[in-house]
Amino acid sequence: MSQAYLWVKALHIIFVASWFAGLFYLPRLYVNLATVPAGSHAERERLLMMARKLYRFCSLLMVPALFFGLLLWLYFGIGKGPGQIWLHLKLLLVIGAVGYHHVCRQLLRDFEGLQNRRSHRWFRVFNEVSVLLFAAIVCLVVLKPTLG
Ligand code: HEM
Repeated sequence: MSQAYLWVKALHIIFVASWFAGLFYLPRLYVNLATVPAGSHAERERLLMMARKLYRFCSLLMVPALFFGLLLWLYFGIGKGPGQIWLHLKLLLVIGAVGYHHVCRQLLRDFEGLQNRRSHRWFRVFNEVSVLLFAAIVCLVVLKPTLG
């Protein structure tokens, strides 16, 4: 395998891990925001500022994470060819991860507009979705199940 392929895969893993670190922590901030008493404006503003910065940061990380993945697939040809079901399943879950990322933005907007009606318990369950997505994607790409 070429050095270029190995460098691209290393960068892919670095950006993927950083992006998901944000997707693991952001819902945790939402759990805290959902439990802030109505009168605690300073606490609410502090958590909102952290959430806005973290959302912006992990949006910046998502782009190179996806770019290097596409490079591995479309330029280096990893996962191309018949029976490579793992990459198709992985891409489905990646679409799910991008969707999850956008739901995080909508939830942030709800908190900013004092529109959130969800409980902290809902956000605790929501938080587990990013962990399950990450685990499933990593298992697919490492084990690489194929057809036939
Ligand atoms: C557009 C989206 C993506 C595409 C096209 C893509 C494609 C790929 C490809 C082709 C490889 C190389 C596999 C190999 O060399 O054996 C790879 C490696 C990897 N991908 Fe992605 N990927 C994407 C997004 C993601 C995401 C969101 C995650 C998050 C968990 C992820 C996690 C990984 C990991 C951990 C590896 C290294 C696996 C290994 O070393 O065996 N990828 N990806």
